[in-house]
Amino acid sequence: MLRMLLSVTTLSFILASHALAAGTAPTEAQLKRGKLLFTQCQACHQLKPGAPSVLGPNLAGLMGRKAATVSGFRYSPALRKANLTWDATTLDKWLQRPAALVPGNTMAFAGLPKADDRASLIAWLAAETAAPKK
Ligand code: HEC
Repeated sequence: MLRMLLSVTTLSFILASHALAAGTAPTEAQLKRGKLLFTQCQACHQLKPGAPSVLGPNLAGLMGRKAATVSGFRYSPALRKANLTWDATTLDKWLQRPAALVPGNTMAFAGLPKADDRASLIAWLAAETAAPKK
């Protein structure tokens, strides 16, 4: 039973990461799910460029950005030293369990255990935090 559960989880992880890696456009359902999941983040994070960092750093322009580089936000030494660049792969690990990827970081969030939830949230975040098209 556990074995079956594990392989289902692994499969959905592979499917989700494949969709992101291949740059496949996220589905409506994924974006809706991602938006809903972000309600767990919005107490601490803003997405609009120029909005002040609150408990957590502003996430505007997140994809491709080096970790711990929003000026004016006091990051933990752990995240500053982590030498990470945010993309679908690093965000997936971070959101699964921040404390495992960067021990000693100060983001008070346990993590999202489901791979498809993380993929939905990352797809939604990527769209929401991209620079507005002119
Ligand atoms: C209780 C407040 C809180 C919640 C809830 C929270 N965060 Fe954070 N987040 C932080 C803090 C604080 C940091 C900075 C951590 C550090 O410096 O170690 C951070 C850092 C980050 C970073 C790295 C940003 C950078 O500039 O390098 C990302 C990405 C992120 N959070 C995404 C999320 C997402 C997505 C969620 C929801 C699933 C979430 N956070 C939930 C407080 C929070």
